[in-house]
Amino acid sequence: MSDATMVDSTFITHCRAQTDAELTRRLSFHDIQPSLLGESMRYSVLGGGKRIRPALCMGAALAVGQIEQAALIPACAIELIHAYSLVHDDLPAMDDDDLRRGRPTTHIAFNEATAILAGDALQALAFEWLADAEDLPQRMRLTMIRELAIASGHQGMVGGQAIDLAAVGQTLTLEHLETMHRRKTGALIEASVRLGALTAVPLDSDLLASLTDYARALGLAFQVQDDLLDIEGETDVIGKPQGSDVARAKPTYPALLGVDGTRTHLNQLLDAALSSLTRFGSEADALRAMAGFVVARTY
Ligand code: IPE
Ligand code: IPE
Ligand code: MG
Ligand code: MG
Ligand code: MG
Repeated sequence: MSDATMVDSTFITHCRAQTDAELTRRLSFHDIQPSLLGESMRYSVLGGGKRIRPALCMGAALAVGQIEQAALIPACAIELIHAYSLVHDDLPAMDDDDLRRGRPTTHIAFNEATAILAGDALQALAFEWLADAEDLPQRMRLTMIRELAIASGHQGMVGGQAIDLAAVGQTLTLEHLETMHRRKTGALIEASVRLGALTAVPLDSDLLASLTDYARALGLAFQVQDDLLDIEGETDVIGKPQGSDVARAKPTYPALLGVDGTRTHLNQLLDAALSSLTRFGSEADALRAMAGFVVARTY
C-alpha cells in the first residue's frame, strides 16, 4: 500500500501483516544454532504483539512522502529491540511476570538463562539487520544505528528500566516519573518515528522536528495508557497479568495522579501529539490514526 489516506485500524492491521511476514521470513532464514536459542528467539518475536512501533515507523515514512515499505527493515529492527526488552522486563529479577501476549513468558516457556540469551541475541540482531539494509544509503544506516543504540541503551530504554526498578515501593515526583516513562518507553517510540522519517532524502529538518514532538508526546502517552491498562484492563484482553504494577508497588501514573487524573493527562498528551502534526496534510493521517489507537487501545 502506498496510499497515505488508508488510515484507522486498517493501517495498523496492514503494517502488522507486513511486519509479521518480514520478521517470520528473516528469523526463519538462518538455521540458528543451538536450536533452543533459535526457537526462543522466534518465540519471543513471533506469534503476537501489536507491532505499534513498526506501524509508527512506517507511518512516519508516509508522512515524509515515502512509501511505507521504505521503512520495513528499520521497523523490524526496532521490533526486535522491543521484543528483547519485553523478554528481559518479564524476568524474575525484573517484573517477574509469567504471561506475555497471551502466552507464557520466554523464561517460563524455556528457562531463565535461555530467555536472557534470547534477549541478548535479538538486540544484536537488530543492529545487524540495520547495518545490512542495502536498500538504504550507508550514511542513513549509520544514523539509524546510532539513534536506535541511544534510544535502547542507558540514555533510553535501559536507563528507564533502571529507574523503574530502583523506584519500586517509592513515590516519585511527577517530574521524575515522567523522565522514567520517557526513557523506558518513550525513547524507543521516538526512535520508531524518527527512523521512519529518516528514510526520506533530503529530509526537511522542520518536518523532522515536528515528527519528533509528536513522538515524544505519544511515547509518554503510550506508557501512561499502559499504566492505566494494568488497573482497568483484563488479563485475557491485555495478554499479560492485570494488576502486576500494583502487586509490585511499581511507580506509575495512576499511583501518583489517580485514574481520573491520569486519564486527563493522557488526553492532554493526545492533543499535544496531534497539534505537532498541524503542518502536515493527509500524508500524516496514518500517524493521526496511530495516536488515536495508542490512547484508546484496550490491549
Ligand atoms: C508493552 O508494549 C510494553 C511497554 C513498553 C509498555 P506493547 O503494548 O507495545 O506490547 P506488544 O508488543 O503489543 O506485546
Ligand atoms: C515496560 O514497562 C517497558 C519496557 C521497556 C519493556 P512495563 O513493565 O510496564 O511493561 P509491561 O506492562 O510489562 O508490558
Ligand atoms: Mg517493567
Ligand atoms: Mg513489565
Ligand atoms: Mg506495564
